[in-house]
Amino acid sequence: MPNSKKRSWAEPFKIKMVEPLSMTTIQDRQRYIQEAGYNTFLLRSKDVYIDLLTDSGTSAMSDRQWAGIMLGDEAYAGSENFYRLEDSVKRFYGYKYLIPTHQGRGAEHLLSRILIKDGDYIPGNMYFTTTRLHQELAGGTFVDVIIDEAHDPENLFKFKGNIDTDKLIKLIESKGADKIPYICVATTVNMAGGQPISMQNLKEVRNVADKYGIDIVHDMTRVAENAYMIQQHEEGYSNKSVAEIVKEICSLTDHATMSAKKDALVNIGGFLATNKEDVYTEASNWVVVYEGLHTYGGLAGRDMEAMAIGIAESVQDDHIRARIGQVHYLGEKLLSYNIPVVMPLGTHGIFLDAKRILPHVPQDNYPAQTLAAELYLDSGVRSMERGIVSAGRNEETGKHNYPKLELVRLTIPRRVYTQAHMDVVAESVLSVYENRDKIKGMEMVYEPKYLRFFQAKFKKIE
Ligand SMILES: Cc1ncc(COP(=O)(O)O)c(C=O)c1O
Repeated sequence: MPNSKKRSWAEPFKIKMVEPLSMTTIQDRQRYIQEAGYNTFLLRSKDVYIDLLTDSGTSAMSDRQWAGIMLGDEAYAGSENFYRLEDSVKRFYGYKYLIPTHQGRGAEHLLSRILIKDGDYIPGNMYFTTTRLHQELAGGTFVDVIIDEAHDPENLFKFKGNIDTDKLIKLIESKGADKIPYICVATTVNMAGGQPISMQNLKEVRNVADKYGIDIVHDMTRVAENAYMIQQHEEGYSNKSVAEIVKEICSLTDHATMSAKKDALVNIGGFLATNKEDVYTEASNWVVVYEGLHTYGGLAGRDMEAMAIGIAESVQDDHIRARIGQVHYLGEKLLSYNIPVVMPLGTHGIFLDAKRILPHVPQDNYPAQTLAAELYLDSGVRSMERGIVSAGRNEETGKHNYPKLELVRLTIPRRVYTQAHMDVVAESVLSVYENRDKIKGMEMVYEPKYLRFFQAKFKKIE
């Protein structure tokens, strides 16, 4: 009997416009993936059926956002849309100063350049690819201080994005507080499988930061999703709105970098925000060199308008409930097929555990990269590797970094696909899983120097 008290996570919107998808045959896909060097980043999107490569810039905008696009004030300086974006950032996040950037990495670049000196160490709750690279390019060394549980895909702890404050204090004491320009806190942690940090932990990190006089930089790319997990699972927050929790998280940090292409529901855009006037002043000078004037930072006026509206939509409880509801729908379905996925289920995607799916493929033969290629071959579903290829090489030894997590990310764009699409994805993963014994792994035949996962090419081991 169905439970009459249950209310499913259905979307708080209806569909006004559709975009046709192309259907391909297995023969087509064999050719496309081979031409792409078995790297899903190198496929043409017209050859993809369900695109779960990333949730970055792939959201569907609302009719309000599209209407906002028509209000673009494309003045070079002092665009009205900048001021509306500034209002949104102050109102929903609480940061005092705003510098728009073309996307998240633009803000990471500026902030790393301003705050990091040669020989500094930057602790963070696991690395993110572009964030770490900008820290390194500025002369710093990233140090992972996330709790150990985050590296174990089977551990069920609800807040695997938490920082281990003992590890953090040990680092500060051993290197000296003057060598730590800031603590980098991401909400949620992408590379750990979309895992949230708890408010309690963030408060503890704030106390450590205050004790040693160190700032906190907030990678707030998915802050609303993190806030929802706090609302659902942390004591004392079930009666607070996502908007209130978002504001509280931001209030515990000093600066922020934002890729608005995720939470904030736009196809392009980001920003740097700060509460410190001196950092703002320096950033508003550097942004002119790398992005554009400080009132547009590489964005059109219309992009800033869409972002201002998207931020307001992103912190609505109904929106986030349906967004994460859809991600968990896919996760539950895969679990019902006994497919190994990272647990607990994350917020922006489901992460297949390639180490457990392909235990016979050594990490040197790129199990997650191989699995992503096989999934595309099976159904035209595009996913992304988050394992040894993404982890890159150790700067000093030149050897591969060997991450504990070897994952394939099925990232769900916001407000784009239906429940039936999720069913097809799950069915395709099951079919690849059933044929896993035949999969042998790959060799890398081309390796770019920076962020190799974007452009590396591979050859199948037959
Ligand atoms: C956690 C996190 N930080 C930073 C970035 C970089 O943002 P962007 O892709 O807008 O440059 C991303 C993008 O995927 C991300 O997921």
